[in-house]
Amino acid sequence: MSKATMRAVRIHEFGGPEVLVYEEVPRPEPKPDEVLIRIHAACLNPPDWYARIGFANIPADKRPDRRLPFTPGSDASGVVVAVGSEVTEWAEGDAVFGMIRFPDPDLDGDTGGRTYAEYTTAPAAHLARKPAGIDHIRAAAVPMAGLTAYQFLFDHVRLEPGRTVLVNGAAGGVGHFLVQLAKSRGAHVIGVASGRHESFLRGLGVDRFIDYTTTAPADAVRDVDHLFDTVGGPDGGRFLPVVKRGGTISPVFFGDYDRERAAESGITFKSGQVHSDGGQLAELAHLIDAGAVRVGIDGVFALADAHKAHERAAAGHIQGKIVLRVVEEG
Ligand SMILES: NC(=O)c1ccc[n+]([C@@H]2O[C@H](COP(=O)([O-])OP(=O)(O)OC[C@H]3O[C@@H](n4cnc5c(N)ncnc54)[C@H](OP(=O)(O)O)[C@@H]3O)[C@@H](O)[C@H]2O)c1
Repeated sequence: MSKATMRAVRIHEFGGPEVLVYEEVPRPEPKPDEVLIRIHAACLNPPDWYARIGFANIPADKRPDRRLPFTPGSDASGVVVAVGSEVTEWAEGDAVFGMIRFPDPDLDGDTGGRTYAEYTTAPAAHLARKPAGIDHIRAAAVPMAGLTAYQFLFDHVRLEPGRTVLVNGAAGGVGHFLVQLAKSRGAHVIGVASGRHESFLRGLGVDRFIDYTTTAPADAVRDVDHLFDTVGGPDGGRFLPVVKRGGTISPVFFGDYDRERAAESGITFKSGQVHSDGGQLAELAHLIDAGAVRVGIDGVFALADAHKAHERAAAGHIQGKIVLRVVEEG
């Protein structure tokens, strides 16, 4: 293959996993404030498949524009192979990971991280040094899910030690980082998930586990300070009895929480959109290297099998993250 091209997955039409096409495409070139990364592993996040279906599951007024064709993916772990003229913090050979250009600021045909590929460019400020103690597969699994958990707990809610936290969807990508980061700040953590995830979540340190298939959280829990709901949906109001007056609910996805009744109960909402931040990712890397945060891997697929990875994601009940292996030693 010539130096100017690479293998990547592209989407030429919106649709099911079969629209993910593995093909030869031009290799990108870094702008002055960017680096070029040889990707060793990339990971799946829900926005990748939302983009694949043309954001049909997002309320119409919040639907991002996405021009075809495009390469999906925001997260990657890899090695810097070229550096833009203005970049001072990275050098060739550095192992880095990051959530790149999320949410997309540049809709000019040059969207997102484009990480389902052998190479991608990234603004220097979106990257952090890969944690030394984990491989590229695990590092690629961290950025979006880890930063979402970090920003919800520490920017939106400003969690203080000793609080009681409930995480709904606790075994998923965002959920398993919420559990561990809340524990690292001294919270009492209740994890809600289906029963298959109990030992995984107890291993990550939940103080209490609730199997939502047999027990409704509202029948079992009261006086939670902060509830994080990574699931969303139409019946979020069922959580109102769980949260104490003065407490917070953080919807990570769209949901209907009966906000009028919540206001009467003194419950407020804290939420936001995750954004790229290399500095916060470096703090996550430090927690990972210190052993305070572990990375759960649901499954690993070859880049060429991205469609199979999306089929796995569509089947649900994810435990941790789904990763694409780009370089064999990953
Ligand atoms: N606001 C933001 O900036 C932001 C950032 C990242 C992600 N998100 C959104 O957050 C959501 C979660 O993302 P993710 O990556 O963590 O997804 P994920 O990895 O698919 O995890 C979802 C988890 O929810 C569990 N679950 C499903 N139905 C449930 C229910 N009724 N009650 C409790 N748990 C249930 C699933 O397993 P079990 O059913 O087996 O327990 C799974 O472990 C997505 O909608 C995503 O778009 C938002």
